[in-house]
Amino acid sequence: MHLTQKEKLMLSGEEGYTVRKSMEILVALGEIYGAERLIKVGSVQVAGVSYHNLGDAGLEFLNELAEDGRVRVLTTLNPAGMDLKNWKNLGITEEFAEKQNLVIDAFKKMGIITSCTCTPYLIGNLPHYGEHVAWSESSAVTFANSVIGAKTNREGGPSALAAAFIGKTPYYGLHLDEDRVPDINFHIVAKLKKLSDWGALGYCIGKKAENKLPYITGIKNAEVDELKSFCASVVTHGAKPLFYMQGITPGSEKHPPPKDKVIIDATAIEEAYSDINDETNVIDFVCIGCPHCSIKEIAKIAALIKGRRISPNVEFWVASSRTAKYLSDTRGYTAIIEAAGGKFACDTCMAVAPLKGRFKAIATTSAKGCYYSRHNNMLTKMGSLEDCIEAAVTGKWN
Ligand code: F3S
Repeated sequence: MHLTQKEKLMLSGEEGYTVRKSMEILVALGEIYGAERLIKVGSVQVAGVSYHNLGDAGLEFLNELAEDGRVRVLTTLNPAGMDLKNWKNLGITEEFAEKQNLVIDAFKKMGIITSCTCTPYLIGNLPHYGEHVAWSESSAVTFANSVIGAKTNREGGPSALAAAFIGKTPYYGLHLDEDRVPDINFHIVAKLKKLSDWGALGYCIGKKAENKLPYITGIKNAEVDELKSFCASVVTHGAKPLFYMQGITPGSEKHPPPKDKVIIDATAIEEAYSDINDETNVIDFVCIGCPHCSIKEIAKIAALIKGRRISPNVEFWVASSRTAKYLSDTRGYTAIIEAAGGKFACDTCMAVAPLKGRFKAIATTSAKGCYYSRHNNMLTKMGSLEDCIEAAVTGKWN
């Protein structure tokens, strides 16, 4: 891989330990994937923030980097293992909170904005069309590539951090136009009526596309919340963090629909629901916000729950960025949700919080949320926001 004189000096250790380590990671990646050179990135989004996943070895690695490593571009974080302010209310232990705070301190020392959300594009880390970035959270990577039309590979935690310390990433994969050509057409004839239908659609397309790049036709309208839900599901159940949706996502007009065509009808969507949903009608955990809720979603939750009461047998979380929670506070939505017995889970989510063994069955609007909840040994039910609020109030899934 060609390196400039300055990059060679960085690699030799001229700018300290963390810059050298970062260059080693970027050069190794670039050589594995045949990159010609490094390119500048406009922003970075770092996953691998929860102490639950990092453990002491990860914390030690971050502390080493924080000694002399300072980020050179706008860098934000993925959710942590707990609400950084309100962790006690979510049942997090003192020991866990102490370690999680040390992780956050290390990121702060590096100059990273400790926003802890998987929706960085809703809180100010918003790239423009065609901009190269280095993001790592899979749903955010898919949203950046497919809805915004920015260009990013799905980075791992260390490679995203390395990109942040150098301000560059190797020029390969989804940074190259030739690797962004769709090769399978999914034509949607099913009617998508509720948010969870988008998760079900992501499940169908992700599974059926395998390693191919989807070009989706037949969808006339899509809201941002629907697209973020679809992005999370399609990449969780498939391989590629990029798709084109004709007439909706930027760049789709440059490509004709590929010849290889699959029809997605109502039966395919029903089959996705039956794969995602387990046999249970008792619910003890309801979590909305995978990906993190927008202010629009929080407003809908508040409207549905106003004047009602969460069952004493159910824990009800609204997972969101702290920014969305702040807006919710100012509009009175937080007060409504908390008066009903609901809790905000800012900075964290159902997948990265230490939840194993705490709940038996979750209800959520998110296909990705179900996927990760099964890893946490929960039975899963996916449905509309109305279904989930009903489950929160009754403790039952009908
Ligand atoms: Fe975000 Fe956690 Fe879902 S990171 S996409 S809320 S699993």
